[in-house]
Amino acid sequence: MIPVYIIVAIDSKSGIGKGGRLPWHLTGDLKHFRELTCKTHSPKKKNIVLMGRKTWDSIPKEYRPLNERINIVLTHNKYLDVPEGVLKAENFDQVLTMTKSERLKNIIETVFVIGGQQVYEEALKYPECQKIYVTQIHQAFGCDVFFRDFKDRFVKTKESTRHNEGPLNYHFEEYELKSN
Ligand SMILES: NC(=O)c1ccc[n+]([C@@H]2O[C@H](COP(=O)([O-])OP(=O)(O)OC[C@H]3O[C@@H](n4cnc5c(N)ncnc54)[C@H](OP(=O)(O)O)[C@@H]3O)[C@@H](O)[C@H]2O)c1
Repeated sequence: MIPVYIIVAIDSKSGIGKGGRLPWHLTGDLKHFRELTCKTHSPKKKNIVLMGRKTWDSIPKEYRPLNERINIVLTHNKYLDVPEGVLKAENFDQVLTMTKSERLKNIIETVFVIGGQQVYEEALKYPECQKIYVTQIHQAFGCDVFFRDFKDRFVKTKESTRHNEGPLNYHFEEYELKSN
């Protein structure tokens, strides 16, 4: 089974976005995101970054698709126009089926679910989703999308020291699905 991991940055009120974008800019978090989602144990493999159509729309055109990773956009719109090499899926089950296909099964290492709210909620329903990488930001931003409480089902396994960038503070955490 290909592991499915969530990666998310959350503010102090569980907010993850505002007005269709991220309301903060944290260079250290972007670096952490890139390192985690690009890194593979096997040099022959790549990771999938799975995102909702609104998150895809929120990435500036010059930065998408996210390089060195296989981008999959979840959308109900089969006419959505995406650049060559970017894959589309109509639901989460279809993504799991794609990872088992002849085309992808030997070249995929991990599926990273990278947002937004709707897609995180979908992913959390699946037992395949074993791990959550959280960037916990210590300030609040008046967000309009949120990451729902997950701590009853997941246990914290790692916590970094605190990082400071300008007026903002944050730290990294890792959670794993409880065994039962
Ligand atoms: N803090 C973080 O780590 C983080 C990470 C990513 C995004 N964000 C923020 O989150 C916000 C976007 O989140 P969002 O919830 O509004 O949108 P989203 O989850 O990015 O995208 C929602 C869209 O994805 C498609 N979709 C969702 N579930 C689907 C399913 N089961 N099957 C098929 N398609 C599905 C639909 O696209 P169609 O309408 O095309 O059918 C839906 O409108 C933005 O503010 C963004 O900046 C934050």
